[in-house]
Amino acid sequence: MSKFIITGGQKLSGEIAVKGAKNAALKIIPAAILSEETITIHNLPQIEDIGKSFDLLTDLGAEIKWTGSSATINTKNINKIELLPKLADKFRTSVMFVGPVLARFGEVKFPHPGGCVIGAGSRPIDLFLEGFKAFGATVEEESGKYYHVKAKKLRAADFFFPLVSVTVTESLMMTACLIPGQTVLRNCAMEPEIEALAEYLNKQGAKISGAGTPTIMIEGVSKLSAGIYEVIPDRIETGSFAIMAAATKSELKITNCQPEHILSLLSVFDKIGLNYERGADWLFVKKAGDIKAYDIKTHEYPGFPTDLQSPYIILMTQASGTALIQETIYNRRLLWTDMLSQMGANIVMCDPHRVVTTGPTCLYGKKLISPDIRAGIALVIAGLIAKGTTEIDNIYQIDRGYEKLDERLKKLGALISRVD
Ligand code: EPU
Repeated sequence: MSKFIITGGQKLSGEIAVKGAKNAALKIIPAAILSEETITIHNLPQIEDIGKSFDLLTDLGAEIKWTGSSATINTKNINKIELLPKLADKFRTSVMFVGPVLARFGEVKFPHPGGCVIGAGSRPIDLFLEGFKAFGATVEEESGKYYHVKAKKLRAADFFFPLVSVTVTESLMMTACLIPGQTVLRNCAMEPEIEALAEYLNKQGAKISGAGTPTIMIEGVSKLSAGIYEVIPDRIETGSFAIMAAATKSELKITNCQPEHILSLLSVFDKIGLNYERGADWLFVKKAGDIKAYDIKTHEYPGFPTDLQSPYIILMTQASGTALIQETIYNRRLLWTDMLSQMGANIVMCDPHRVVTTGPTCLYGKKLISPDIRAGIALVIAGLIAKGTTEIDNIYQIDRGYEKLDERLKKLGALISRVD
């Protein structure tokens, strides 16, 4: 397993450009199945899960040309309706292929998707299945490990999400594009990636309205044409780098980003006394002075993102006072914080959904293991401010979300190296 070795205490400086959004790119790739014409994607992040998505699509029979941050996909010759278990059970977003294959071929077989363990059990897909059933599909399930979903004829539906879900909103929105009649999705997630996906599908001839609001309406069409998509900047990378600047008391200019997508974080910066300037596609974080502790509660967009909760905890270990951090989306996303106690942080877990930090505290380098992408970046930030050397194992979990992080941070002055 690869590791990062970080020598803490260095100030960072300079500019860092944000890559395309992982959570947008991972939906555009399966969306290519909805059209038999060629799809071109630009600004793709070069991360592990993109490669896995392309492997899965290639196995289905698609032709893919991937060079650097651009790719073209043609799915005309897809000739399988099974997502190969040994590929699909390795990552959560393999489930995003299910809707498009079902919409195009009326049938799909797939294993329970894999991915990092931050939710209940092995992260449920019950809502996806409920949605497909609402479209008239039947679901055969082999003890929660393998599924066969099929329909003689899919029908438009009026579906209310019992809980707000990003990927299920996207999945049902994509599927409905090719189902005749009007589908109405209610209580939808409103993330910018959903709006971007809808805009892109509409350019291909889909008829989607309301994406980015709680009610999305889709008028089914018989086919989608070719498309060109520029992946939007990764708002979670933007926020992670902004928190990294604040926690290390550095000045950083973050470019190629859309600060309007992280207003919840910027409003927290205003509360804790962290200064910044922003334009339409850049954010300049000024050197932090004494920052104040401030409570947050994660919430669906536009609220405070669960994906920035872990880095924010590190920032709060450096803030004066006590902060209550409440995680409302996932049940296992605070478990990693016991590693921070080992580093010297004053942090108490009240229950699986709440931790309290009291700061500021000095952190000390330790040997750590990255449990998931976002806890991983948080540990990197902790390593950057800690006294001594921090070793982070299982950085595969960081590489899944942050392209060549070590190389990019070195350019800012970080002392970080990768050991394979
Ligand atoms: N849920 C169910 N049943 C389902 C699907 C979801 O109970 O069938 C639950 C989940 O277990 C969770 C809640 O619903 O408790 C909300 O999860 P959601 O479905 O919104 O999450 P997701 O769509 O699986 C996306 C991002 C996550 C991000 C969340 C919340 C992608 C590929 N993933 O996940 O990103 O945390 O929305 O904003 O878009 C990450 O990038 O590190 C990451 C985990």
